[in-house]
Amino acid sequence: MEKILAEHRKTIGDFEVLEIDEERVRALRSQIDIDVPVDLHWTWEYASEVEELRALYERGKRGQWNAEEDVDWSIPLPRDEWFLPREGVLILPSILTAMGADEATCQAAAWDEFSHLFSQLLHGEQAALQLCGQLTNACPTMDAKFYAASQVVDEARHVEVISKFLQRKIGTIHPIGATLKVLLDKLLEAPTWKMKTLGMQCLFEGMAVGIFDTIQKGCSNPLLADVIRRVKQDEARHAAFGILTMRRTVRDATPEEMAEMEDFSFNILEALNANQQHDMLRELAPKYGLDPANVVQMALGLPEWPKLNSEVFMHTVVPNLARLGLITERTEERYRKCGILYGDRFGVGPDADVQASLQPN
Ligand SMILES: [Fe+2]
Ligand SMILES: [Fe+2]
Repeated sequence: MEKILAEHRKTIGDFEVLEIDEERVRALRSQIDIDVPVDLHWTWEYASEVEELRALYERGKRGQWNAEEDVDWSIPLPRDEWFLPREGVLILPSILTAMGADEATCQAAAWDEFSHLFSQLLHGEQAALQLCGQLTNACPTMDAKFYAASQVVDEARHVEVISKFLQRKIGTIHPIGATLKVLLDKLLEAPTWKMKTLGMQCLFEGMAVGIFDTIQKGCSNPLLADVIRRVKQDEARHAAFGILTMRRTVRDATPEEMAEMEDFSFNILEALNANQQHDMLRELAPKYGLDPANVVQMALGLPEWPKLNSEVFMHTVVPNLARLGLITERTEERYRKCGILYGDRFGVGPDADVQASLQPN
């Protein structure tokens, strides 16, 4: 199976990094009308058939919140205060600190990188909104339709709250990174509801839980902390939907279908990993006198790179895939080789919020 964006790879040592030229980036961003297949499935069974999904839908109804009214937008986000740790969470301030740059420069770089990261999460939220609309149409049972419809509202709220945060507190929304655009289109274009569910609900929701948790742990601004806490609790429910639905799907799958799902999962995560934040670095690193390729090379050369790099993957997405049986002896080595999987493939245990969402009530 060919790697995603195979024609845009270049190698650093034995690692393949994605580098997409500006012209292609512009073309990808301007492609806003996408022809996607969606099966529309009626059902006449209105009673609950999938109890655990109905319970998740009930949990979702209870967990609703209002992005305009429940969030205290009067809390400031001062530009000259650290709201994330200076080192360890964001790349640019970590490197600049190591290079001896002054506080103001490191702070400016942190501000830029965070606004870039939060903008990418915003675009991802829009994709989730669109995809859940598709799932509402395509899912076979009323329980899944109820649940997907409730997630549509959640994702609309996430788009609302993150875009308001960026507009009101940061002042910039960065355009979507090229790799992310390609991957999100792949999920939206996936031919069946099962593949769409695997792609968005397991892979991307799992990544989102990992990223939001990392920000949440380091965050010292009360407004940002509150927004992240609220969004992450919703995302944990979304990841739980992925697990519950894929458990049934995997149980009924043929060996060929299993292989297809395993390869699809690996290819999406591999491309995300091959980007190595290159899309962000190409936009921001030169502003701080850094060469994007050098930054990637430095990171790849760190002795503890496989452990550091795998952290966000090992948080939720990889252990969840392993528990579903979608990372197997056959595919495990591929994940290890590119630095996505490190240590035990089942990780250290499920995320607490995801675990809570998996409980019946
Ligand atoms: Fe979301
Ligand atoms: Fe979500």
